[in-house]
Amino acid sequence: MSPQPQEAVGAPLSRVDGRLKVTGQATYAADHGAGHGIDGILHAVVVTSSVGRGRITALDTSAAEAQSGVLKVLSHRNAPTLPYRPNPGSLNLPGERLHVFQDDQVRFHGQPVAVVVATTLEAAQHAASLVRIDYDAQQPVTDLTGAPPNEPPAAYTRGDAEAAFNAAPVQLEMTYRLSRTHHNAMELHATVARWTGARVTVWEKTQWVQSTRDELAAVFGIPATDVRVISPFVGGAFGNAARCWPHTVIAALAAREVGRPVKLALTRRQLYSGVGFRPACEYRLRVGSDRDGRLTAMTHDLRSETSRYERFSERGVMSPGQMLYTTPNVSQTYRTVPLDVNTPTPMRGPGYSTAAFPLESAIDELAHELGIDPVELRLRNEPDTDQASGLPFSTRRLRECLTTGAREFGWSRRNPEPGQTRDGDWLIGTGVASAVYDTLRAPAQARARLNADGTALVESATSDMGPGTYTSMTQIAADALGLAVRAVTFRLGDTILPPAPVHGGSLTMASIGSTVQDGCDKLRQQAIQLAIEDEESPLHGAAPEDVVVRDGRLQLKNNPARGETYQQLLTRNNRTHLESDGAYTPARPQASMYAYGAVFAEVAVDRRLGLVRIRRMLAVYDAGRIISPKLADSQAIGGMVGGISAALLEHTLTDPRDGRITNANLADYLVPVNADVPQLKAIYLDGRDNTADPIGVKGLGEVVLVGVAPAIANAVFHATGRRIRQLPITIDALL
Ligand code: MOS
Repeated sequence: MSPQPQEAVGAPLSRVDGRLKVTGQATYAADHGAGHGIDGILHAVVVTSSVGRGRITALDTSAAEAQSGVLKVLSHRNAPTLPYRPNPGSLNLPGERLHVFQDDQVRFHGQPVAVVVATTLEAAQHAASLVRIDYDAQQPVTDLTGAPPNEPPAAYTRGDAEAAFNAAPVQLEMTYRLSRTHHNAMELHATVARWTGARVTVWEKTQWVQSTRDELAAVFGIPATDVRVISPFVGGAFGNAARCWPHTVIAALAAREVGRPVKLALTRRQLYSGVGFRPACEYRLRVGSDRDGRLTAMTHDLRSETSRYERFSERGVMSPGQMLYTTPNVSQTYRTVPLDVNTPTPMRGPGYSTAAFPLESAIDELAHELGIDPVELRLRNEPDTDQASGLPFSTRRLRECLTTGAREFGWSRRNPEPGQTRDGDWLIGTGVASAVYDTLRAPAQARARLNADGTALVESATSDMGPGTYTSMTQIAADALGLAVRAVTFRLGDTILPPAPVHGGSLTMASIGSTVQDGCDKLRQQAIQLAIEDEESPLHGAAPEDVVVRDGRLQLKNNPARGETYQQLLTRNNRTHLESDGAYTPARPQASMYAYGAVFAEVAVDRRLGLVRIRRMLAVYDAGRIISPKLADSQAIGGMVGGISAALLEHTLTDPRDGRITNANLADYLVPVNADVPQLKAIYLDGRDNTADPIGVKGLGEVVLVGVAPAIANAVFHATGRRIRQLPITIDALL
């Protein structure tokens, strides 16, 4: 088959759904109602626990039920027993998920304990405030430090790290702390649920419609085929919408109990305990090296928080310590620590960004200790193969990321001595860090349909939480079908569509992209075959490999005048459409597959106030082929902003007395605004990774966050001479 010209792929397209979004026509979960055929919708408001641990001793709903407009107040006192069958789907954690309204136990502050259903939101809100609850409260434990961990730890060893560390000419030993942080996407989590007999449809904020479908089926004990989940638009998510949370069950339960559709939107405050978060982490790291900066040993001992009812660990948190640098001797332990909190969950760059802060800070500490440039030190420890798996790298251009970044950033102009560069009262510093995230792929399916009017519809049940999946899939389909971008529609976010994996882990481009490529290639071949076999076609008898399609016209590659349009071909053949199924099944890895990056940051620290300002940032990424450059830039800039946020601002604060999150709102939970963000630049080492997947991509959405916070922390050290081993780096730490 002849390769198609690549015109849409690689072009800096704006979002195909951009107009819908800016004109308010994109329908997010809570937007669904009467205008979408959902009549008689009721409003549900969740009542949450006001203690952090204990038991409900009394729950009085009489005042709430007496309010006009209130139809039902559900709690453990009157909720039906729900089957809560095991759900072997992925993101399934050891332990048992929270069962809503099934007992009187309070496991964390903010746990849903009742729901009010009323005809208006206002009536439901007011009635929720009238539910009276007494507790037998106990002291919750919400601080990771000192709390006993789950045993045994996850562990990894190679060589003899203890002996090698003790024998190392240079030994560093540090403990780093990362705060608990919350995703805080713009869109609140919301569910609209409607039962029709024994079947339920939910309109949901989710990164994975199938996962929500399977969980609802398991919780209610009904076949998955009786659950439909619809999620056409997601107003931002960073992993927070990757699993089905209790409020979705509550909405479905409430709708079933009252026999009418119910809308439930968590408040901003309720998000902090209603969905997961990035767990706090303590990371003890020892690094041994020779005097030339060649690493001889590393020991990593981690603790991160989880809930008492599920054991969440950050996938990938142990990987950077195993494969980012040549290190003959490594030992790692990773313990989760159960606390009286709700269950954590993946948050952008999960694991990898957690590990990058200690690891990339430590490399900077070692560079300073040895008087070796931090870029040079990294280059000296660049591995030839993956020492963890023993596999060769599919592609690894981290060296090029570092050297290109150093050149473009003007790294060589840096005075290596910290605390020496000033601009008035501002101390100026620059820092660098490497970034890594693994290239995940998962089985996926798609369906592609070519209509007689020359338009195409491509469908897969993936999601678009913001990276621009609608757009990038349209680009791939357009080129594979030889159509203009405007002639192609990509549809996603519905369980009736061909199944797709979680829209997370940076696996969507590789997995759905390869699936769409496959389905559209087959569809184009089908059309070409039809033309070749059609005696009335100008292409009759041509060899399939000689035919390409451009702008909806099938033609001979070497004689474009000979050809016809899809419309002509399908109309003459009395075909309303042609259709093909696409599939992608990842091959077993024969190589170590990761995306890489190098992040360079310049900061200014006010000498007297401790205020940190980011002056500029540049990052270079090795993420394989870039399908959609404008949206890649949007990801990279967003990742850098997220990294600035993690480095300097984000910190979920908990009152140790009762486990209440004290800054559960966007006024007190700090995130960057425009004034916090300078010009940010991203450079891509564009090139295919043909081992990773058929379309040559390695994933970008997460690696762009990894490395940003340590680059900033290292720049703060260079500016001030102060090494801050905690995130966020707050003003008080620098005073
Ligand atoms: Mo991402 S943490 O896989 O949404």
